[in-house]
Amino acid sequence: MAERTKYVLDEDQMPTRWYNLIADLPEPPPPPLHPGTGQPVGPDDLAPLFPMALIAQEVTADRYVDIPDDVLEVYRLWRPSPLYRARRLEKALGTPARIYYKYEGVSPVGSHKPNTAVPQAYYNAAEGVTKLTTETGAGQWGSALAFACATYGIDCEVWQGRASYDQKPYRKIMMETFGATVHPSPSDLTQSGRAVLAEHPDSTGSLGIAISEAVEMAAGDPNARYALGSVLNHVLMHQTVIGEEALKQFELAGDTPDIVVGCTGGGSNFGGLTFPFLREKLAGRMDPVIRAVEPAACPSLTRGRYAYDFGDTAGLTPLLKMHTLGHEFIPDPIHAGGLRYHGMSPLMSHVYELGLVEALAVGQQECFAAGVRFARAEGIIPAPEPTHALAACVQEALRCKETGEEKVILTALCGHAHLDLPAYASYLAGDMVDNEVTDADLEQSLAGIPSTAS
Ligand SMILES: Cc1ncc(COP(=O)(O)O)c(C=O)c1O
Repeated sequence: MAERTKYVLDEDQMPTRWYNLIADLPEPPPPPLHPGTGQPVGPDDLAPLFPMALIAQEVTADRYVDIPDDVLEVYRLWRPSPLYRARRLEKALGTPARIYYKYEGVSPVGSHKPNTAVPQAYYNAAEGVTKLTTETGAGQWGSALAFACATYGIDCEVWQGRASYDQKPYRKIMMETFGATVHPSPSDLTQSGRAVLAEHPDSTGSLGIAISEAVEMAAGDPNARYALGSVLNHVLMHQTVIGEEALKQFELAGDTPDIVVGCTGGGSNFGGLTFPFLREKLAGRMDPVIRAVEPAACPSLTRGRYAYDFGDTAGLTPLLKMHTLGHEFIPDPIHAGGLRYHGMSPLMSHVYELGLVEALAVGQQECFAAGVRFARAEGIIPAPEPTHALAACVQEALRCKETGEEKVILTALCGHAHLDLPAYASYLAGDMVDNEVTDADLEQSLAGIPSTAS
């Protein structure tokens, strides 16, 4: 038989449960704290922002949570997603390594984000919420939530970081096509936005500022709630459908990964792919190295502090124990807008502290070089975010070329770049630069971490 390129599952092999890694960890991650009292937040503190079903999922200790039939029905529009063996990339690199990628670009909006947008909209609609507010960086999350809200007939209002809003006008049109309203962030519609604009009229925005604006609007409207595209436990749990499918696909391939690599913004595609593999590793059934890749311009895991900090810039959210660059940190306007977040998911940060995953930071030029290499071999133009994971794959595959090792590498190709082509234009024109964070910048933003709760 000819060499196989794609490992595809039937719809009836789609996972029917999400996996909660917390159930298998030696200890749970530290809880979110109320900034006023310093005590763990309770359901009542979160109720103005989230529906009860999601608050329950955020704190559950259950190993598995059933996926509602209604959500499974929507998932079937694009799930199960294919696992590819990147044979052409392997040949182009001349590596003995076997490279696999789980491709989430087949979703309606071109990324992994609908895996959680759909259940979030579903649970909100079920509890009578009529509008969701949110932030978006690259626009992938905003498009996913706009699509999900259209599916369940609720309104959607999105704050998009100014840098991406200007770089990616077609994302806005996509969100509007699904019926959403989109504002550049910082905006003058919220107190948080106006405060930033007063100090920095030309602010390029950040996910932290956009979160403040969306949270502020939801908190002020009893019919609205807020949806977050990453970071929280329930979001990472929804994304585990990626890893559960990949495990079954590896059985089809008759292979086992030695390394699982993903990019990390807030940690959701990475957690989604890797947590089911981590379950297998903790149970002693396999032993892959699990490696997170972040931008050198926003290095929360590799250069941030593990401390309680706000999830947003204005300080409206509970305090989260996470790897953070400081909530006032504004990353340079790099092209991977989805990775421009000052913190890392508390669960991912905890897993990193436990030594279960490794991390490295890569500059964007190396990432886009890997993205172009991948596109020319495999025919898919990767979103700027997963080019970070691809850069690490290429590094590993070239190491294997030196040593002759036949390592099995798995990565999450969590989105395509069809609406991110200006980033490639900049790379191809040779005017992309690497924006390293200086120690002085970092010192200043780390000083803004609230000292009381560290
Ligand atoms: C395609 C893509 N990949 C990755 C990310 C980063 O988020 P996360 O770390 O939650 O997967 C984003 C965020 O917007 C994204 O759009």
